[in-house]
Amino acid sequence: MTQTLLLLPGDGIGPEVIAAAQRIARHVAPDVAIEEDLVGGAAVDAHGTPLSDETLERARGCDAVLLGAVGGPKWADVDRANRPEAGLLKLRKGLDVYANLRPAYCFEALVDASSLKRDRVEGLDLMIVRELTSGVYFGEPRGIDTDENGVRRGYETSVYTAPEIERVTRVAFEIARGRSGRVCSVEKSNVMESGHFWRQEVTALHEAGGAGVELTHMLADACAMELVRNPKQFDVILASNLFGDMLSDEAAMLTGSIGMLPSASLGAEGVPGLFEPVHGSAPDIAGQGIANPCAAILSLEMALRWSLARPDAADRVMKAVADALKAGARTGDLGGDLSTDEMTDAIIDCL
Ligand code: NAD
Ligand code: IPM
Ligand code: MN
Repeated sequence: MTQTLLLLPGDGIGPEVIAAAQRIARHVAPDVAIEEDLVGGAAVDAHGTPLSDETLERARGCDAVLLGAVGGPKWADVDRANRPEAGLLKLRKGLDVYANLRPAYCFEALVDASSLKRDRVEGLDLMIVRELTSGVYFGEPRGIDTDENGVRRGYETSVYTAPEIERVTRVAFEIARGRSGRVCSVEKSNVMESGHFWRQEVTALHEAGGAGVELTHMLADACAMELVRNPKQFDVILASNLFGDMLSDEAAMLTGSIGMLPSASLGAEGVPGLFEPVHGSAPDIAGQGIANPCAAILSLEMALRWSLARPDAADRVMKAVADALKAGARTGDLGGDLSTDEMTDAIIDCL
């Protein structure tokens, strides 16, 4: 049966980097049917909503979804329920892709592009497993209003249920078993009830079914510090939605640029995976054709591996990116002067 990949380019540099990934897909998986739809500000402009129910249904019917980025200053004034980012959250929640894998590996050729010293990042290869469909991003109540004393306030709720912690923890354990077996679970159990509960649950899950996994715990602020002090101590980092978001941007800089980091968001068996760069729509460089396409291309690599069951094609993409970097291909964020198209050409030459 024909496999289908749905492209949701989105806003800003999203369409630029997704066009690059599409060129690579044509080379390594020409038989995959490619469809395209709108998300984010582009969907707000066309339909008045950042993700229509029709687009969500369409995504559910595909084998994998590759998204560029959403958001930008143009939509700063649309009401909050309809902001571009709300479309992305609706898509993640609607697909129930609760486990967001954010690998941070340092390509040999980029060791000196990192803001850290060579010996700290050479050979770095860690995986952040971020819970993606709960926590403070979705907890109720939330809002901006006036309390009974007439004081204006903004608030949200950080809540995790046991089943939500359990399913993402199982993914982290499983991923760790295929690596060096170490999981570091991160929260703020010292100040947050949901963090305290997270630590209790993860510990109990480890005792009950953590064979082959070495589990440690760290407070999220200390983890942020350790990530730049000695990042190679980590293998798998398990974190809530909010802490995983922040730690993955930090980890991105260890690899040279946020333009390098892909992600995969996975749900239950049979649910299409959602693949997206960790970076955003980069309004400061959008439209100039200079965005680094690597994060989008490596997100395609993850789609080939995790949802489309094409490990050989995925290996080809990974090797081509490494070889192009080794040959000196660099976009501006990596200190070079290649355009998005030229960087993509360099990668295609290495396929
Ligand atoms: P950003 O990631 O868009 O940009 C941060 C910095 O990194 C900018 O200087 C940008 O030029 C640079 N950068 C990012 N990707 C790059 C690439 N591929 N090549 C070269 N340089 C790159 O983050 P931001 O500025 O905080 O957010 C901008 C908008 O994007 C906001 O509306 C935000 O909500 C949205 N956003 C969306 C996603 C997503 O769609 N998954 C992720 C993060 C932010
Ligand atoms: C990310 C982004 C998103 C998040 C925003 C745009 C909703 O920062 O994917 O890292 O916070 O999850
Ligand atoms: Mn983020």
